[in-house]
Amino acid sequence: MEERRLGPVVGLGTWNTFGGDAELARDVVESAWGSGTRFFDSSPMYGKAEPSLGAALTDRRGEATVATKIWAPTPDQGREQFARQLEWFGRVDVEQVHNLVSWREHLGWLEAEREAGRIGRLGVTHYSPFAIDELADAMRSGRFDAVQLPLNPHERAAERTLLPLAEELGLPVIVMRPFADDELLDRPPDPGELEPLAELGVESWPQALVKWVLSDQRVDVVLCGTRNPLHAAQNAAAGSPPWFGPDERRLVERLAG
Ligand SMILES: NC(=O)c1ccc[n+]([C@@H]2O[C@H](COP(=O)([O-])OP(=O)(O)OC[C@H]3O[C@@H](n4cnc5c(N)ncnc54)[C@H](OP(=O)(O)O)[C@@H]3O)[C@@H](O)[C@H]2O)c1
Repeated sequence: MEERRLGPVVGLGTWNTFGGDAELARDVVESAWGSGTRFFDSSPMYGKAEPSLGAALTDRRGEATVATKIWAPTPDQGREQFARQLEWFGRVDVEQVHNLVSWREHLGWLEAEREAGRIGRLGVTHYSPFAIDELADAMRSGRFDAVQLPLNPHERAAERTLLPLAEELGLPVIVMRPFADDELLDRPPDPGELEPLAELGVESWPQALVKWVLSDQRVDVVLCGTRNPLHAAQNAAAGSPPWFGPDERRLVERLAG
């Protein structure tokens, strides 16, 4: 069994960003990598993001943690997705069942692949508050080694059940949607309002949101999706201590509205 904790770190998400544009993927990965990012998340659902990510990692693959997903209604289709992932990544460090699709059906073959060493750990994801009960069931099954869920000042449902459960079970938590898919970035606060966060290394509103997520000690990885190399570097820079205390967290929540 691999060491349980995955973080705290900033990871690079690839939804809606890398699909089919291998050159863009290379630029974004290069910038994120240069700023210390080593965790990358993808899925067969994200167009051609997986092969773009694989090509962008090239000789960095050994040092990277690749998290991707199985998004398939049947084990046969899931195995086909996995076979392609092995071509692109060699091995999958965190293989997640995407949006809980057929998770019970996939577990048998996924566990065999983990046993054989082609998968590092198994995870499970969902983005919707309506899926919380089923996500909790999957976590309680004892057969997953990580969970991915949404968390930001506008989406806090996970704080009620899933984060306490993850803590109780010792399950690493990977957070998606730290900017609520940029809903939280539309009307950023005045720079002056972020002044109290400057001494904690925060220079911008996106960085405040990244640090807000990682300051919850139950969180291991915060995934930021971007197609902008500069944004990838800025997000990565918010992934180190000092972390926020209760006052800074409340300030970010108030500024998020
Ligand atoms: N069901 C699931 O398993 C699931 C669901 C959703 C997401 N995810 C994973 O979680 C990752 C993150 O979620 P997400 O991509 O949906 O949403 P997100 O990270 O909350 O938001 C992405 C948006 O934020 C913008 N952005 C990022 N950094 C920025 C910065 N420093 N300054 C200004 N704008 C910035 C991006 O625009 P720019 O391109 O202009 O930077 C993009 O429009 C995904 O990529 C995916 O890997 C998984």
